Amino acid sequence: MSAAEQQDKTFYLETFGCQMNAHDSEKVVGTLVSQGYRQVPTVEEAGLVLYNTCSIRDKAEQKVFHRLADFKKLEKQGKRFGVLGCVAQQEGEKIFEKAPHVSLVCGSASYRKLPEMLLQIERAPVLTGKFDIQKRLRVTGLDDRETDECFETEFTARTNPHRGYITIIEGCDKFCSYCVVPFTRGKERSRTSDSVLAEARQMAELGYTEIQLLGQNVNSYKDAAGKRTFAELLAAVGEVRGIRRVRFTTSHPRDFGKDIIDAIDSVPALCDHVHLPVQSGSTRVLDAMQRLYTREQYLERISWMKSARRDISITSDVIVGFPGETEDDFQLTLSLLDEVEYDAVFAFKYSPRPNTPSIKMEDAIPDEEKSRRLAALLEKQREIQKRRNQKHLSEIVEVMVEGKNDARGQWMGRTSQNKTLNFVAPEGCSFESGSYVPVRVTTALPNSLVGEMVDG
Ligand code: 5AD
Ligand code: SF4
Repeated sequence: MSAAEQQDKTFYLETFGCQMNAHDSEKVVGTLVSQGYRQVPTVEEAGLVLYNTCSIRDKAEQKVFHRLADFKKLEKQGKRFGVLGCVAQQEGEKIFEKAPHVSLVCGSASYRKLPEMLLQIERAPVLTGKFDIQKRLRVTGLDDRETDECFETEFTARTNPHRGYITIIEGCDKFCSYCVVPFTRGKERSRTSDSVLAEARQMAELGYTEIQLLGQNVNSYKDAAGKRTFAELLAAVGEVRGIRRVRFTTSHPRDFGKDIIDAIDSVPALCDHVHLPVQSGSTRVLDAMQRLYTREQYLERISWMKSARRDISITSDVIVGFPGETEDDFQLTLSLLDEVEYDAVFAFKYSPRPNTPSIKMEDAIPDEEKSRRLAALLEKQREIQKRRNQKHLSEIVEVMVEGKNDARGQWMGRTSQNKTLNFVAPEGCSFESGSYVPVRVTTALPNSLVGEMVDG
């Protein structure tokens, strides 16, 4: 009997990393279910154990190997193990050496081949007792940067019934010097805008009201059929009947056009939020990072947002301690935070990544110094956010309800600007997740807002 039959074709999937990975997992789950598999909540119940992995920072790959080592003994019960995602692509067949009980290693550019890979796994005999190591099954999908194809599937198993992701572009051709993504997710390839719009309409018919367009760099989207620019696609998704909120991530300043801000100004369903990672406020460091823009060019894009008719919230990613970053460079990053006044910043200590150009630069800034810079930056940003959030006091804003915090007696919501706004409502009021409610802001905290429901 094959492994999968023995375990009633069950699988367990754990996901690490970014929104792209989260959405890939929704597609992987849908594909497995379409092949007769059933998702189970624990490793113990599963015949097939999958990890969708991330390798963007730190020792992410080691975390995965530790997890795999913990479960090695389960191989004898006939369980199969698979590593998907960025660590799979980055480490490739080395994974079989480090974790010999793994039978599947598959990067994201090969997911379209999953059905045939699953068949190979199912057909292989289960090895029990003392077995010949050579007989172990090894299935790989490692397309590297070669594939031109996107992972388009009709079997996406979305986890939230109100808001969902749509991938518009996969891969990345930017090669920022610190970044593994161009190596793990392959070259840039865009879907046609017609197929993106068809998916958006289908989601609207199913009751979705919020859509997030995804890509490593959505601004370099190139409609494979040449019909629409990214800004035009964004506007068209915002005009799909039933869609009330459209977000997009991630943007690259080099390719970010003013037409995106014009679209936000003219299509109400486009959320008033832009995530535009800057990485550093020093042009010298940006150059070493191969980011392809200067501080001034970045600030020009910010000025487009600030002169928009709508109040656009702006968020960013920053790396501290990049090789060669001096105290002066770091101070330039701090002054940029003051100048932009971000609504939120995700900041990271630089970590050298395999294959990337910056791995050859000396990572000479000690970890304690990176930590000091990170703490100083977060402290500054906290003050900025407090000020930014205070501007919302007494505004009436619409939130999408995400649930209830019973302990606090508050409903949890999210604004179009992507801020958490928790609110109270009169006794007896009850909201379904996904409903939209007008709320007056009464308290501004650094990381969230608090308010009360407004009648009507
Ligand atoms: N070290 C630290 N941070 C990194 N990021 C990407 N690569 C690295 C790295 N090697 C951060 C960037 C990016 C975010 C997703 O992760 O800020 O925008
Ligand atoms: Fe992590 Fe980047 Fe891969 Fe996302 S694309 S999972 S952030 S390495």
